[in-house]
Amino acid sequence: MRTLRIEELDDRVVVTLARPAARNAINAAMIRELHDVCEALEERPRLLLLTGEGGTFAAGADIGELRERGRDQALQGINSRLFDRIARLPMPTVAAVDGYALGGGAELAYACDVRLASPAAVFGNPEPGLGILAAAGACWRLRELVGASVAKQVLLAGKRLDAEDALRFGLVTEVVPAGELLKRAHALIDRMARSGPLALRLTKLVADAPGGHPIADDLAQAILFESADKRDRMDAFLAGGRS
Ligand code: COA
Repeated sequence: MRTLRIEELDDRVVVTLARPAARNAINAAMIRELHDVCEALEERPRLLLLTGEGGTFAAGADIGELRERGRDQALQGINSRLFDRIARLPMPTVAAVDGYALGGGAELAYACDVRLASPAAVFGNPEPGLGILAAAGACWRLRELVGASVAKQVLLAGKRLDAEDALRFGLVTEVVPAGELLKRAHALIDRMARSGPLALRLTKLVADAPGGHPIADDLAQAILFESADKRDRMDAFLAGGRS
């Protein structure tokens, strides 16, 4: 991998965006490599921890490449399809954000299930300042995450959300010193990893289904009710061994 550092553990994969000299700007090589990560996680589902090297999460799509893209590349949805794929990964994803998460970098973080931040984190979507729109999820995911009023300040008025804002608006679950960020992210993933893997996977699938969906909930529960894992976990509870 040229643009990512990858650590594969048994129950999780840690992916570090690693173009620090370009503030981890997301270029075509990084897009390809993140698709490779997705492919591996779709084949063998594990939790994902996504972070950035050098005190930046990601300063957006690579502006040098963006400048050369035309209508046909926009219609390919180069970033949006990748971020959708990440959002639909089978197991939960956690973004540990230190420093800037701007433009496509912010959208990548918005596509994750949970975000943690360091005090230096800054989220923003300055795309209109570059004459384009934030077309890889910010125009709808950010509204789902923080509500229309805050999202429109970010999208239309160039408001940057610092760590305190992000915590207040519910964009991140906690703010921890940069030196502890990965430790806290791993602790959160440890907690997720203690759940039944299929239960976690189906919960994510059902929770992300649009609108009301009682049938999907019942079907997912029907699968889980038949699993040996459910019986083992409930037996352990009833026997007094709390997990
Ligand atoms: N695309 C391409 N290159 C980028 C980049 C991006 N999105 N963001 C930063 N870089 C490059 C800079 O061009 C610079 O390259 P150089 O050293 O060859 O000159 C290098 O990364 C360092 O950037 P610099 O601006 O000097 O760092 P900084 O710490 O002073 O500022 C940012 C960091 C993130 C505030 C600033 O780089 C920035 O505003 N980036 C663009 C953010 C943006 O508009 N993103 C939306 C894209 S859709």
